[in-house]
Amino acid sequence: MRLSLRFLIPLALVLAAFAYAAVPLVDNLIVKWFVRDLEIRSVLIANTLQEPLQDLLRAGSRAKTVNYFTRIAQDERLFAIGFCDQQRNAMIAVKSFPSDLACAEIEKHASGSTWVLPSEKGLLQVSVRTIEAEGTLLGRLVLVHDMSFVQRRSEETKRYVFYFVIVLGALVSLVTVVVAQLSWRGWVQGMRALLRGEGLVRPAEKVNVPELRPIARDVQALIRDLETEYRPKDEGQITWSPDTLRSILREDLRGEDVLVVSNREPYIHVRKQDGIEVQRPASGLVTALEPVMRACSGTWIAHGSGSADKEVVDKSDRVSVPPEKPAYRIRRVWLTAEQEAGYYYGFANEGLWPLCHIAHVRPTFRTADWKHYLEVNQKFSRAILDEAKTDDPILLVQDYHLALLPRMVREQLPKATIITFWHIPWPNPEAFAICPWRAELLDGMLGSSILGFHTQFHCNNFCDTVDRLLEARVDRESLTISYGGKPTTVKRYPISIEWPPSREMVGKPVDQCRTELRRRHNLPADHFLGVGVDRLDYTKGILERLRAVERLLELEPERVGRFTFVQIAAPSRSSIEQYQQFEVQVRALATQINNRFARGGYLPIILKIEHHEPAQVYEYYRAADLCFVSSLHDGMNLVAKEFIASRDDERGVLILSQFTGASRELPESLVVNPYDIDECAAALHVALNMSPPEQRHRMRIMRGLIREFNVYRWAGRMLLDAASMRRRGSISARTGGVVLSWPKDLREGRDFPVQR
Ligand code: F6P
Repeated sequence: MRLSLRFLIPLALVLAAFAYAAVPLVDNLIVKWFVRDLEIRSVLIANTLQEPLQDLLRAGSRAKTVNYFTRIAQDERLFAIGFCDQQRNAMIAVKSFPSDLACAEIEKHASGSTWVLPSEKGLLQVSVRTIEAEGTLLGRLVLVHDMSFVQRRSEETKRYVFYFVIVLGALVSLVTVVVAQLSWRGWVQGMRALLRGEGLVRPAEKVNVPELRPIARDVQALIRDLETEYRPKDEGQITWSPDTLRSILREDLRGEDVLVVSNREPYIHVRKQDGIEVQRPASGLVTALEPVMRACSGTWIAHGSGSADKEVVDKSDRVSVPPEKPAYRIRRVWLTAEQEAGYYYGFANEGLWPLCHIAHVRPTFRTADWKHYLEVNQKFSRAILDEAKTDDPILLVQDYHLALLPRMVREQLPKATIITFWHIPWPNPEAFAICPWRAELLDGMLGSSILGFHTQFHCNNFCDTVDRLLEARVDRESLTISYGGKPTTVKRYPISIEWPPSREMVGKPVDQCRTELRRRHNLPADHFLGVGVDRLDYTKGILERLRAVERLLELEPERVGRFTFVQIAAPSRSSIEQYQQFEVQVRALATQINNRFARGGYLPIILKIEHHEPAQVYEYYRAADLCFVSSLHDGMNLVAKEFIASRDDERGVLILSQFTGASRELPESLVVNPYDIDECAAALHVALNMSPPEQRHRMRIMRGLIREFNVYRWAGRMLLDAASMRRRGSISARTGGVVLSWPKDLREGRDFPVQR
């Protein structure tokens, strides 16, 4: 519609101008034609009257002449006739003859003259013709024509011309708009595609609009030049955002689709009494990858674990998400109850999880679980082959549930770029070596092109483990492992979160969060609040955290009744015995502390073991005076980063375990050893007494770090590394590898090497 107006308004203006100029011109022309007609008519009448008039004049009957004239003047256009008698110098005329046309006046005009005479009746045209007999001038015949019909016709003509221009204009506009719309759409699509770079990714020949192809070719060449000349060599120069990721995919990876594969899915459909509810799981992996997928599109392959998951997928087990604004799709993989028990609860979470987290829970390895682990990894690998559109897809494998997958995919798709990210710590070789399937796991992981960990410490541990347990070549300088087929690069990619946080998370003002939350928990407005947010997992140090709160209240009794710690704990892996026991322990300790310090309605610990949606968690972050992360061992811990991101008021204090990956990036937090309860209690004391300027100072530095090292940078670095790996791969595929050696014939006699 807007487009049509853009055409129609100028067109209407042009037509109006045209009508304004054309109508008087046409009118003028028409008037001239009519005047000319009258002149011809006058000549005709004069010629016709010549002889009868001579006879009448000769007969000398004035009355007869007048009668004769009166008869002729009955013609509707002839207004009057008169004759100026030369001999008698008298006017013989009909009654209607204009009185101001006296003979003296008539004689001033030569024969054949015509002029216009204004009168009460309107315009009149006067023509004068001489009447002669045998060479003698008898007098002047005066014919007066009524010109009012000319005026009438002129008005009609103007009207018709005006309507004609309007109708013509409307038709022209219609045709113009239709043609313009069609070609404009094509152009706009073409230009948009060009500007988005799509026309630049595909060959110019495939650009839809033929007229744009030469432009596409030129722009492609220009962009290639600019890219090579100006691409920032240092990732620190890049502003990392969803757009940056999209442009890496477009330009560096030539528009490749990204496949992500993980056990946990980003959206879970759960059947409730009043319908299907969509839940966002409590998972660092999901927190990090979800915004990346929203930016990159593509497909996320994951275990469909929700009770209503099957109800919402299409016939290929796919569903588009986020539900409110689909940007990518989940391909769900279904597991039997036995597979889930053996692969997920068993091998992954009773075996590998405690193996990699030094949290003093013994890992349990069962052959049956291992078989399920193998089987489920194969199942995921089949789903990947289903979803891959090319023989060299970019695959992002996530976490310890799928350690065998990279090798399985590599065997089927040798050209795939496989980036595996290990979200949990990697232990030292001795600790890892207790796993009965250690070699198989390492072999599976070394099917990856790139293997990522959160910290350099975990990268080093992995290389040490491979060095110790496999016959592999480990290049310590480039941290590249060659084992069997292709080399694997081991690299540190510290994971992060979306920046800036979405409006959904930080839309509610901090003051409102503080007031509403305190009111909800029946706490006074100035009550101090601490918060802990975790899955209910024994690695998170929840018991140690509660003990630190207890110790604080012991040492500072004046805090009793004035400080409350809210522990949000999302139920997790609750089929596993250690997790069930852990929940019992947490509940018991919270009750014990509450019993000890309860005053009136006051409880020092509020334990909320239930699922919270991300926006609800952010409300707690924003309402709290401090956030306590006390993991006994943690790959990164994104709760720490989320708390910082949530505090756009630059207030609040973070207490952070030294055993998290995050503590290496956030030294401005209060870093503690969670096993040292007194130290943790002291950190609580410091946090509760920290001045606002000090809080602001620390918060600013930490927020700056997360802004700069956000999750787009995490994903973007891996994708850039994948892209350069692919470029290198394509060079060696083209050249077949350059081998510098001395061919036999050259060795004998010639003295320079050649490239083969
Ligand atoms: O961040 C480590 C991790 O194990 C993820 O792999 C996982 O998604 C998350 O914790 C939550 O665990 P789960 O998927 O078992 O609920």
